[in-house]
Amino acid sequence: MKKPVILINFKAYDTSFGKKGVEIAKQIEKISMEYSTEIIISVPPTEIYRIASEVSLPVFAEHVDSNSLGAYTGSVTPEMVKEAGGKGTLLNHSERRIRIDEIAEAINRSRKLDLDSVVCVDRNELVRAIGTLKPTSILIEPPELIGSGISVSKARPEVITEAVEQIKEFPEVMLIAGAGITSGEDVATAIKLGASGIGVASAVMKAKDPMRVVEEFVRSAKSV
Ligand code: G3P
Repeated sequence: MKKPVILINFKAYDTSFGKKGVEIAKQIEKISMEYSTEIIISVPPTEIYRIASEVSLPVFAEHVDSNSLGAYTGSVTPEMVKEAGGKGTLLNHSERRIRIDEIAEAINRSRKLDLDSVVCVDRNELVRAIGTLKPTSILIEPPELIGSGISVSKARPEVITEAVEQIKEFPEVMLIAGAGITSGEDVATAIKLGASGIGVASAVMKAKDPMRVVEEFVRSAKSV
């Protein structure tokens, strides 16, 4: 993962899959190329293969299961994500919580496969605990701001600054911030507060013109 990290989480919006999902991914790819900036997209498991085949962006899973291969109906494992063309995974999103032992196992399995891992936490108290597990990155998101249109940068800047302090113990782990990111100013503020980048969903996936939104985010991230 490269700084500034722009991670767009597709979630399960009606724009996140099928032709619409591919279309948004292609628009994001155009911006990524135009500004020579890496933009990571995390997509539903059914879309990893299709989207990774159509665009050059790093495609992440929104979640992986930590069970080994075998008789585990419904599992999506790191091996499957890798084989589908994925480059990494989100773990423990507020909308998809998992146990700490599952987080640890999923990080280790992903690392062995050269997949990045981005572990979400909902509070500062968890930054050190997850940092010891050495994921590629920690994404801090106050859950009450997710999807609210009120950004963590404006409403809870102390969450970012505290997390940035705590992550210093783990220089190989990046700290990114998300929840309610809506404007270029939100992106720039998060980075000025010390975050290595941002995670975003609704402002892009629900936008009339996602390309315009992503362009504003990238320009602001690069301007800091
Ligand atoms: O994973 C990023 C996400 O939870 C933030 O969502 O809609 O507040 O940008 P949103």
